[in-house]
Amino acid sequence: MRILVAGATGVVGHPLVGALRARGHQVTALVREESRARAPEADAVMVADALDPQALSAAATEARPDVVVHQLSALRLLRDDPPEAFARTARLRVEGTANLLAAARAAGAGRLVAQSIAFAAAPTRDTVVDEDAPLYVDAPDPGWAATVRAVAELETQVLHGYPELSGLVLRYGSLYGPGTAYARTDGGTSGRVLAGKLPLPEGGAGVTSFLHVEDAVGAAVAAVESEVSGAFHITDDEPAPAAQWLPHFARTLDAPPPRTIPAAMAPRLLGWYMAHQLTSAAGASNARARTELGWKPLRPSWRDGLGQE
Ligand SMILES: NC(=O)c1ccc[n+]([C@@H]2O[C@H](COP(=O)([O-])OP(=O)(O)OC[C@H]3O[C@@H](n4cnc5c(N)ncnc54)[C@H](OP(=O)(O)O)[C@@H]3O)[C@@H](O)[C@H]2O)c1
Repeated sequence: MRILVAGATGVVGHPLVGALRARGHQVTALVREESRARAPEADAVMVADALDPQALSAAATEARPDVVVHQLSALRLLRDDPPEAFARTARLRVEGTANLLAAARAAGAGRLVAQSIAFAAAPTRDTVVDEDAPLYVDAPDPGWAATVRAVAELETQVLHGYPELSGLVLRYGSLYGPGTAYARTDGGTSGRVLAGKLPLPEGGAGVTSFLHVEDAVGAAVAAVESEVSGAFHITDDEPAPAAQWLPHFARTLDAPPPRTIPAAMAPRLLGWYMAHQLTSAAGASNARARTELGWKPLRPSWRDGLGQE
């Protein structure tokens, strides 16, 4: 098949181009002018900003893809400028998705596969939820509520945007591995743990579902080659409370053990989102992706890799 990968310089997009080519697909990498030098080896490289609908449409029309893959985000900015990272990513999720869908349709593509997140559910009594769980669009933190609303908007557009385009949403768990926030040498979260600046709120009951970058790539390949539509949690098999993964991560990094703080102090010391993640977030079950998409993680447990590379 002919595949157009938007976000082809990213943590997932870059290795995805090679993985798709290894499967025999003809892949066009879409990059921005300023990141052209970091483009992966591809059958073709095209330059367009996802926020420029004309340029995007012209690139897609030239590539004539059967499938378009959306791996756009600005989360790389998280470490230096979190508000900007979230604002730009929300814009890419809403406006970038609309532009990409319109370009895909104009180019005659039949399918769009898009990246989303598996940690946007509202807290419930369940510690692990499936894809039907309501999203936390009314989170008390305005920043996180805006992020989740943009995620919901992306998913609605991809799944219901145009009847002639079949859509699949990959709700990735918290990515770990090279280039991510949990990367051993240069990850932002790793840096906080090494500096003793990520304490554990008492109880540490918030659950995280992790995902190795290689499995994010593998799921995107499966999604491209599948004909099913819908939103799928792409997560490992072992959703973990912070009380388990954070001390384990610190040990693996040879960092000091995280100190415990009263849960009530967590939002002030860690910020609302991190406090939520460590105290009350739910994990995400991958059962639907296993049965309907035919995908399963090659790295079933974060215990075997988180913080090692
Ligand atoms: N995905 C998640 O679930 C998630 C959640 C939280 C944190 N993170 C962290 O975020 C980091 C990156 O993850 P990621 O794969 O989502 O993002 P990424 O590696 O930054 O990739 C994003 C891609 O989008 C492209 N892009 C951004 N703005 C664009 C625009 N206006 N037009 C066209 N392309 C544009 C980037 O291109 P350029 O090279 O031109 O910028 C890049 O190719 C990791 O450290 C990860 O741990 C990820």
